[in-house]
Amino acid sequence: MSQITEIAPDVFKISTFISEVNIQFNQFLVKDEEPLLYHTGMKGLFPTVNEAVAKLIDPTTLRWIGFSHFEADECGALREWQRIAPDATAICSFVSKMVSVDDVVAERPARALEDGEVLVTGKFRFKFLQTPHVPHAWDAGHLFEENSGTLLCSDLFHQNGEVEAVTNSDIVSRFKEMLIEYQEGPFANYLPYTTKTEKILGRLADLKPKTIAPMHGSTYVGDGESAILDLAQAMKDVLAGSE
Ligand SMILES: [Fe+2]
Ligand SMILES: [Fe+2]
Repeated sequence: MSQITEIAPDVFKISTFISEVNIQFNQFLVKDEEPLLYHTGMKGLFPTVNEAVAKLIDPTTLRWIGFSHFEADECGALREWQRIAPDATAICSFVSKMVSVDDVVAERPARALEDGEVLVTGKFRFKFLQTPHVPHAWDAGHLFEENSGTLLCSDLFHQNGEVEAVTNSDIVSRFKEMLIEYQEGPFANYLPYTTKTEKILGRLADLKPKTIAPMHGSTYVGDGESAILDLAQAMKDVLAGSE
């Protein structure tokens, strides 16, 4: 059911398309001395994601489980993962840990990462950036893998539909279409546009990512800095001043 694609050396995208909502849910498995899973997916996805992870590593050896913010698709199956992987520790923002994660979904306490902190998993180096309300939620953060230049960007660059696993073509226009479509329905105001949004997106652009890995839709390989600046403009166009 889930499709596996290597988006950068030893960084694997595990993608499951849910036709009822017309969305792909992507998790990322990073093979390293200390294997890392980014996003757990919802509880209902656990069997299929677990099956996919088992094709790449022994799932019981998982060491780190990262996510951007507290939501079902980000960390809903954290407990299920921690029950099969005895050394798996959640990594998230201090706010995420304190406000929700430790009490609601964690089998054991999460490790809170500070803004700018780097987690070394072996050959990979994950820098944590605290990004409140980007893409959304007070506790939001991002992980950037410095060696491969991969930005794990959660709901930023969300694209609807059963799209290709990886692309070199523009994904911002698809993202903008999604924002416009969502503004008309029950998912309106999916992403906030605040006085801090542009500055936070500027920080992400300054990382100059080579690979942009969203939770929903195609991974983009190319000029990540320009893509993020274009995304900031798209968000401003659709969301700034919206009701
Ligand atoms: Fe989200
Ligand atoms: Fe999401």
